Amino acid sequence: KKVVLAYSGGLDTSIILKWLQTEYGCEVVTFTADLGQGEELEPARAKAEMMGASAIHIEDVREEFVRDFVFPMFRANAVYEGIYLLGTSIARPLISKRLVEIAEMEGADAIAHGATGKGNDQVRFELAAYALNPDIKVIAPWREWDLTSRTRLIEFAEQHQIPVAKDKRGEAPFSVDANLLHTSSEGKVLEDPAVEAPEYVYQRTVAPEDAPNEPEFIEVGFERGDAVSINGEAMSPATILTKLNEYGGKHGIGRLDLVENRFVGMKSRGIYETPGGTILLEAHRGIEQITLDSGAGHLKDSLMPRYAELIYNGFWFSPEREMLQAAIDKSQEHVSGTVKLKLYKGSATTVARWSENSLYSEAHVTFEEDAGAYDQTDAQGFIQLNALRLKLLAARNRRNK
Ligand code: ARG
Ligand code: SIN
Repeated sequence: KKVVLAYSGGLDTSIILKWLQTEYGCEVVTFTADLGQGEELEPARAKAEMMGASAIHIEDVREEFVRDFVFPMFRANAVYEGIYLLGTSIARPLISKRLVEIAEMEGADAIAHGATGKGNDQVRFELAAYALNPDIKVIAPWREWDLTSRTRLIEFAEQHQIPVAKDKRGEAPFSVDANLLHTSSEGKVLEDPAVEAPEYVYQRTVAPEDAPNEPEFIEVGFERGDAVSINGEAMSPATILTKLNEYGGKHGIGRLDLVENRFVGMKSRGIYETPGGTILLEAHRGIEQITLDSGAGHLKDSLMPRYAELIYNGFWFSPEREMLQAAIDKSQEHVSGTVKLKLYKGSATTVARWSENSLYSEAHVTFEEDAGAYDQTDAQGFIQLNALRLKLLAARNRRNK
């Protein structure tokens, strides 16, 4: 039996690696992805080798992540429950896709992940995997094993010569998931939503009050709904997001403290930092303001919560997400141009936008003389017809009073 494990190199997935070998009698292949989490990956290789992984895959998937997952999602301006930018949700389908592909390459019949049995991530990993390979087997050790306390986990690690850093003997202070789009922290010191999160939870943004006292202005260029340049310099998708993260982190942009509804039923409290993504969302809305038609724009906005929920719930690889994506992508045909943003103490605001595809017509909107572009008497009949049923209702209300 052979299994491909999503392996971070950390203590928990190292214990899983060993557990799969000893309890399942499996050959374990590891997959470690560089999603821009900002950690060295070579130590993961050394550890996997030491523990006898039968093959080790380490891949830099940052460009694929941003180009094929983050950017398509941002074309929709997707946010879950009004505000969460889906930084963890959007990374899971990519990891599953690679796990399934590596399983096929290596002749493995199963994949394994380190998500707990209580959260969204197990659902996302597994729905994506089954959508791509209906015969794949999934092993989720957290749902199966009897290592149910920290003490038992550490005992297991020590029995099997898995190195345990001194500070990992106790409980980790909270659970972190990071990639190029965001860092999320949940659990432990964050579990009581009535208590403010301590400042040390924040890892990639300064507090807005400690951000520079001078605003900074940047220009983000778009083509067909995707960011393609910063300050006139063309860059790859992952480079753009990396740069926007630097700007956002420095100015304290993109912090969020949210109690959300997990797909599995319970509410959970998370601290999110999405510095570059928060700037990108503002910029994208800025360029859509002048390039999107109102009918297309309003329809797109009405589809967005549904689209965001599909991503949150793990249905990236589903026909309904693809249908919505096709509609969203079609809406972006003319979403090209440039947005100027002001970054200042926790906020990113659009201050100017321009485009060759702009639908904005000063001739029509001006309060000054418009040289016949717009006939104001047209508005009179327009209002009368729209008011007709309101007048009939008001007349009935008056009669019945
Ligand atoms: N609640 C977020 C989501 O479902 C993040 C989950 C993973 N985060 C973590 N710190 N373990 O997308
Ligand atoms: C986990 O359960 O592994 C993290 C939280 C989540 O998936 O919602």
